[in-house]
Amino acid sequence: MKLAVVGSINMDMTVCVERMPKKGETLLGESLRYAPGGKGANQAVAMAKLGAEVWMFGCVGTDSNGKAVLGNLAEQGVHTDYIQILEKEPTGLALITVGENDNMIIVVSGANAKVDVDYAQSICSKLDDFDMVILQHEIPLETVEYVVNYCAEKGIKVTLNPAPAAKVSEELIEKLTYITPNELETGLIFGKEKNINTLLQKYPEKLIITRGAQGAVVGLKNKEIFQIPANRVDVVDTTGAGDTFNGAFCVRIAKGDTMKDALRFANIAAGLSTEKFGAQAGMPTEEEVLSRI
Ligand code: RIB
Repeated sequence: MKLAVVGSINMDMTVCVERMPKKGETLLGESLRYAPGGKGANQAVAMAKLGAEVWMFGCVGTDSNGKAVLGNLAEQGVHTDYIQILEKEPTGLALITVGENDNMIIVVSGANAKVDVDYAQSICSKLDDFDMVILQHEIPLETVEYVVNYCAEKGIKVTLNPAPAAKVSEELIEKLTYITPNELETGLIFGKEKNINTLLQKYPEKLIITRGAQGAVVGLKNKEIFQIPANRVDVVDTTGAGDTFNGAFCVRIAKGDTMKDALRFANIAAGLSTEKFGAQAGMPTEEEVLSRI
């Protein structure tokens, strides 16, 4: 099974605080840590840790952060041959505040902004023999559209995790195999007034809405609404939990799991990932997820 991620690669700079600051307030942080992140890279690492063959497509800078995140991807077993190293761009940086069992993230795109349509055109023929291509919204939206259109034409399965929130056209949604927004992203993409069950039934086994600590929900083809309940975990850091969920879901569905089984697996993997600090450090192996099931 070969999976490709076309997406962002960041260095995460995380400050832990006792509580989230208010607008205009200065708070003292407890610690500052640097760790590899980026929604694209996180999802690639989550899948590699679960035993998939994963290729990352994206861009980093020649700076020390670029070297560190590239080295990390390789160490985690992700293929990095198609990642472009750009001299004039800094590696993407995420400023993360962790506190109150949640996080706040600001991303400075840097080299991720150069994962543009030109780059996509240069790599897209490489995607032809992949079982699935996975995208997020931390690269230019035109690139996401280009890759989705390419995959649809070639009959390659494609999953879009539309984070951070941005509009996705109905036409593009039609071309996706799976779309995995959280509740906030669902509101932006589909409009808040829509009844969730009606929405889920409109896109059966395509629209998967993640609900953080409340699990996830999907409409099945037999019209059942399948809700995966919350997982009991000792939360240290929720950063990367959504990425773990997406990575685990894609691996299991590509392996041939049913929708229900893939979501159960992904939900447990995401819960486990919150038990350690950092986006990637807590991502579980297949054995760890199975033992928790
Ligand atoms: O989803 C978590 C990720 O969002 C972090 O690793 C950070 O880099 C941002 O991209």
